[in-house]
Amino acid sequence: MSKCLSVGMIGCGGFARGMHIPILKKNPKYRIYAVVDINEEIAKQTAEDTGAAYFTNDVDKLLSDKEVDVVFITTTHDSHAELSIKAANAGKHILCEKPMGLSREQCKAVAEAVKKNNVKYTVGYNRGMAPMITIARDLLESSSEYKKMIYHRIQAPFPESHWTHSPEIGGGRFVGEGCHIFDLLCEIVNQPPVSVYASGGIYLNPDLVKIPDSGIVTITFADGSVGTTLISSAGCPDFPKEATEVYCNGKAVYINDFTKMEYYGFGGRKKTSLEFDSVDKGHAVEIDQLADAIINDTESPNGLVKAARAAVISYMVNESIKTGMPVSIKESDYIF
Ligand SMILES: NC(=O)c1ccc[n+]([C@@H]2O[C@H](COP(=O)([O-])OP(=O)(O)OC[C@H]3O[C@@H](n4cnc5c(N)ncnc54)[C@H](O)[C@@H]3O)[C@@H](O)[C@H]2O)c1
Repeated sequence: MSKCLSVGMIGCGGFARGMHIPILKKNPKYRIYAVVDINEEIAKQTAEDTGAAYFTNDVDKLLSDKEVDVVFITTTHDSHAELSIKAANAGKHILCEKPMGLSREQCKAVAEAVKKNNVKYTVGYNRGMAPMITIARDLLESSSEYKKMIYHRIQAPFPESHWTHSPEIGGGRFVGEGCHIFDLLCEIVNQPPVSVYASGGIYLNPDLVKIPDSGIVTITFADGSVGTTLISSAGCPDFPKEATEVYCNGKAVYINDFTKMEYYGFGGRKKTSLEFDSVDKGHAVEIDQLADAIINDTESPNGLVKAARAAVISYMVNESIKTGMPVSIKESDYIF
């Protein structure tokens, strides 16, 4: 395989054009080779913008093209599992945006196809690879035998009209986006999750949204660590969207919107501050590491187990909100 990977983009919407494509253009390990969208106009425009060799609305054309090494699946959530399985069966490596699938059965089918065809699979849980999260994990490494408590918040208006709130197309906010945060909590704690509890419901217009859009989720881990995240679809755009706080062994780490970081109690210092020029949620690192995994035939970042772990937690969140009860989780629920 050539060292410059030929990418087939499947889905050329806002996120592909705003995030993945600019990152790919800057990374010499990749070239954008072909683009697909069911909306041919968007595909055509994307091909013009990227210099791709061709555009099409026929995913099978791209998947049967021997030139394509890796596909980036950035479609609506209803097609992620089916496209991942097709891509794996066509022998293509895969970066699939979150979520892995809309049900545990879909995740299992993806895992089986990826393993059968021996291709690399990465799901788009970039936050666990964000540089400030990496710094936090390195700082906390020497306290790994101590339990952690994490408080995370993600708040922003997420309009009723967005397809994420459609159970059939998006799976709802917890499945469609919350999985990101459930993965982040798992990555910071670095222990198996054992229980998921959530309370919340529909905070947007209930005539338009039919699946819980907001809530507070608590995940308990095997060592007794606890991570909680507040996910609000009815928040305020003028207030910072995200924050992460970790407390452990007399130390504290605070990350504000992946641009500002303060940590307390490390290296004999009361407080250390760090600030980046812009938000970095780990997308570029993830894409770069996937290239290395493909080129060197090593383990892909955010692979099958992590992909399914947070997806299964997200289904349990909806179940817990419905029943008002915690749900137990074990490794056999997400390691297929
Ligand atoms: N990792 C992150 O930080 C992050 C942030 C935002 C969005 N996302 C993810 O990116 C993905 C796309 O989100 P978006 O905001 O760009 O949505 P979008 O609606 O702007 O774009 C989706 C595109 O996919 C196309 N499409 C749908 N089904 C298709 C199919 N079967 N084959 C080919 N094309 C198809 C649509 O025509 C549309 O152009 C979602 O999975 C979303 O969760 C990830």
